[in-house]
Amino acid sequence: MAWQKNYSLKEFNTFGLDEKASFFNSFSSLKELDSALNSKPNKELFVLGGGSNMLLTDTLDKAVLHNQLKGIHVKEKEDHVLVTAAGGEVWHDLVLYCVERNWGGLENLSLIPGSVGAAPIQNIGAYGVELKDTFVQLEAFNISSRKIEVFTAKDCAFAYRESVFKRKLKGKYIITSVQLKLSKSPVLNTSYGAISDELSKLNKSDFTIQDVSDAVIHIRQSKLPNPAQIGNSGSFFKNPIVDQEKAAELIATHSDIPNYPAKDKVKISAGWLIEKAGWKGFRRGDAGVHAKQALVLVNYGNARGAEIWKLAQEIIVDVELKFGIQLEPEVNIL
Ligand code: EPU
Repeated sequence: MAWQKNYSLKEFNTFGLDEKASFFNSFSSLKELDSALNSKPNKELFVLGGGSNMLLTDTLDKAVLHNQLKGIHVKEKEDHVLVTAAGGEVWHDLVLYCVERNWGGLENLSLIPGSVGAAPIQNIGAYGVELKDTFVQLEAFNISSRKIEVFTAKDCAFAYRESVFKRKLKGKYIITSVQLKLSKSPVLNTSYGAISDELSKLNKSDFTIQDVSDAVIHIRQSKLPNPAQIGNSGSFFKNPIVDQEKAAELIATHSDIPNYPAKDKVKISAGWLIEKAGWKGFRRGDAGVHAKQALVLVNYGNARGAEIWKLAQEIIVDVELKFGIQLEPEVNIL
């Protein structure tokens, strides 16, 4: 396909922002990727997946290339399967594919918006599980050498909502496929309170990964806005990780502050901080803070990206003033 000029990205970002790309193209094979790169306009390349983790604050003055590589391949072993999914597959479709076959490991990551190729970039996580827990390796296209390279988990340097692709190698590779190791005799992870609460409603004692996936879908639907109805990018900020001293100080003054151990530090709930600072349910024009989860910023219809960013910055300043913690966006600000 030829590069399109001034192309609206409204359908390509889950915030539903009607911001444009200077140039747009897509690829569904490595051959198409190569030819798109050969004819690329003289702008910086930006690879787009599901558009679920970005905030477009203005026209994106880049050559935007949409990854539409599709396909799922499976290698069955005695007690596990190796599932290799192409970067342009929809993440939740992959989860459902595995849950249906009773291959365990991804069920807690049900209904996370976005593509398979984007999942490792920020090591997606929910309900006690992260992508890195089932990750084996990925293949990525090196944009400058035009060769495919293999990255192991160690190469990816995964951490909480982090990987090497968000840092040192940002913009240098296109993730073409991800390989995961899933169990044929799944061990359920129901450590997260909300999941066990949901399961206990089922009136049985033996649960399947289908039950866990359904529970996660139910919890997410009850708290998180559906991007098809209200534009959003999931958690807008990361949960801040503070040192023990800061945590003790906060807990002493706010005994109900949700906090979780994170190696030798403490993870604090950003949603709680934002709610306590008074922003939950706040709305200005079509930009707002979700009424059921303060960590999620929303576009009620026709907000501009800049309005959402302005709101986010006001929240950062206010939370810092009230709690001495600087929130960091989880989404990519463009
Ligand atoms: N909380 C509040 N007020 C709020 C929101 C949360 O007080 O408005 C409190 C809750 O009561 C709870 C705690 O904060 O005690 C944690 O809330 P929740 O379980 O909703 O999870 P979260 O920490 O806000 C994280 C992830 C989500 C993931 C959930 C479940 C981050 C940045 N977010 O949210 O991921 O679904 O845990 O595991 O780590 C995403 O990344 O887009 C995302 C949705």
